[in-house]
Amino acid sequence: MSLQDDIARLRTELTGAIAAATDEAGLDAVRVAALGKKGSVSALLATLGSMAPEDRKTAGPAINGLKNEISAAIDARGADLRGAALDARLAAERLDVTLPVKAAPTTEGRIHPISQVWDEITAIFSDMGFKIAEGPDIETDWYNFTALNFPEGHPAREMHDTFFLQPGPDGTKKVLRTHTSPVQIRSMLRANEKPAAGYLTGAVEPPIRIIAPGRTYRHDSDQTHTPMFHQVEGLVIDKESHIGQLRWVLEEFLKAFFEVPGVTLRFRPSFFPFTEPSMEVDVQCDRSGAEVKIGEGSDWLEILGCGMVHPNVLRNCGLDPDVYQGFAWGMGIDRLAMLKYGMNDLRAFFDADKRWLDHYGFKAFDMPTLFGGLSS
Ligand code: DAH
Repeated sequence: MSLQDDIARLRTELTGAIAAATDEAGLDAVRVAALGKKGSVSALLATLGSMAPEDRKTAGPAINGLKNEISAAIDARGADLRGAALDARLAAERLDVTLPVKAAPTTEGRIHPISQVWDEITAIFSDMGFKIAEGPDIETDWYNFTALNFPEGHPAREMHDTFFLQPGPDGTKKVLRTHTSPVQIRSMLRANEKPAAGYLTGAVEPPIRIIAPGRTYRHDSDQTHTPMFHQVEGLVIDKESHIGQLRWVLEEFLKAFFEVPGVTLRFRPSFFPFTEPSMEVDVQCDRSGAEVKIGEGSDWLEILGCGMVHPNVLRNCGLDPDVYQGFAWGMGIDRLAMLKYGMNDLRAFFDADKRWLDHYGFKAFDMPTLFGGLSS
């Protein structure tokens, strides 16, 4: 068989194998079989060495021509196969960017109505210049009752359905705080002494303008009471604070909170040991429909307790009642939330039922602000 025939046969065989390779691995096998150390084309090239110089002159270019041709064909086929592989991958991994985005936890999660109302209340009072004060949930009997002018054995201590705790090692009587009023004491005492660090961010000495939202506890449970509930306390102490200011603050707060242009308040005389005079405040409302409407109608709804801080309370906090006076109020956050958002069973607040939260909860990034709208 002549060299020409060998070359022609190899060309046909190899171009056929190259065209038949369906992936890069297959193509590489063809390359090794032709151009590798022991490949068919390499073997042909090796014959050049033993040829007569005359024959080599024509055989050299012919065999090298075959080698270049095959190597170019392999490169071209390789490029085709890579292109086809990429096309297949692009087709398989195709993304439809017009499909709706899958909800992330931040868009799925909901803020509990209590947290929302808590934030709304802080937004409104912060805007009026109030600072936020805090106190511990486990409170001493002194802060919760004695300093607030509840005499020992006074029936008001029982009225609070207190959860009593084991006394501390030094005999300090402890309770779960029954109201946020002890934060009044902590805020005022800060003028004279430093209570446990971290609890207070309020004023250091009068004028004091704080609100104290927080958890409170009483041994009570029905449709409108839960053993743990939430209150917000307000306290203003200055040299000339008076009931007119108290009334203004409460009206402004209730208008902003219920997002209505006006409210009408009714002050009824009441009794709290820590205020004198003490009052309960009703807000005018309309209860004829399914929802309670604040700011209109002919009904009244009790909404908070308030009064002028009792001189004994000021004295207990080292403030001279002849120099300072002030007013305070306390209201239930849960009740405010129920009224504003039309939820009628308080116990649902604590059921952790996702369907309820999906319905009544708020979007995570909708922070209530006065300029952006409280509940929008
Ligand atoms: N601490 C009272 C309660 O829980 C509410 C209250 C009434 C707070 C009058 C006050 C106030 O600051 O002045 O029933």
